Amino acid sequence: MKNPKTIFVLTGAGVSAESGLGTFRDRGGLWARFDPMKLATPEAYAADPDTVLDFYNHRRRGVVAAVPNAAHAALARAETRLAERGGRLFLCTQNVDDLHERAGARAVTHMHGELLKARCTACEAVTPWHGDLTRADACPACGAAGRMRPDVVWFGEMPKHLDAIERALTAADLFVAVGTSGAVYPAAGYVRLAKARGIPTCEVNLEPSDNADAFDTAEYGPASVALPAYLARLGL
Ligand code: APR
Repeated sequence: MKNPKTIFVLTGAGVSAESGLGTFRDRGGLWARFDPMKLATPEAYAADPDTVLDFYNHRRRGVVAAVPNAAHAALARAETRLAERGGRLFLCTQNVDDLHERAGARAVTHMHGELLKARCTACEAVTPWHGDLTRADACPACGAAGRMRPDVVWFGEMPKHLDAIERALTAADLFVAVGTSGAVYPAAGYVRLAKARGIPTCEVNLEPSDNADAFDTAEYGPASVALPAYLARLGL
């Protein structure tokens, strides 16, 4: 589709892979090396907060050290160019890193939360957090100690901004998924939601995802190469 006005882009870990941040389900991915049930659930945090906080401290250091790649930059450019035409790029990411923002994206919807923010489980205040987080840290808002957690969505928790995401998805005239395996819902269901509304869909991925058969078209290759090329063909 040439010159789409409103594009809904869903990104996953694959868009940050070339920035050195691990994916989850590729060979050697995070969930191949660590048990998500012991590190990415509210129960794990309640049972062993220090181990969970340490796991996210390790990942947060990786995010802080990472640099956005050409895929992040291409999406930021596309967002600006679409806006200049009176259009809109709705960037919905499953990623908890800030590489889209650091590449210049102005509106990023983090449906799985953000690793560079911490949330107090006593008062629910959310605070930007770039360093390590331990139980010794007190909430800057209410002072409670030992109650801070990464502001990320764990398995069994409700993803964020679902209403806004669904409104944007149903209003789009193109749906593009980048670097996601299509393994985790509700994000994995968005391509079928788009198809049900007759919205053209494209998958940009290193290899066919679990959802590959649901997409109208596909661009395979590293996101830093395939995505800029795809967006350029759209005039973005
Ligand atoms: N370029 C493009 N795609 C890539 C690249 C790359 N350089 N490297 C890997 N990929 C693709 C893989 O082929 C795979 O399809 O990115 C996808 C990554 O899939 P996952 O590791 O499952 O990551 P994601 O889809 O984001 O996982 C969704 O699962 O555990 C939860 O909360 C976590 O947000 C995450 C969610």
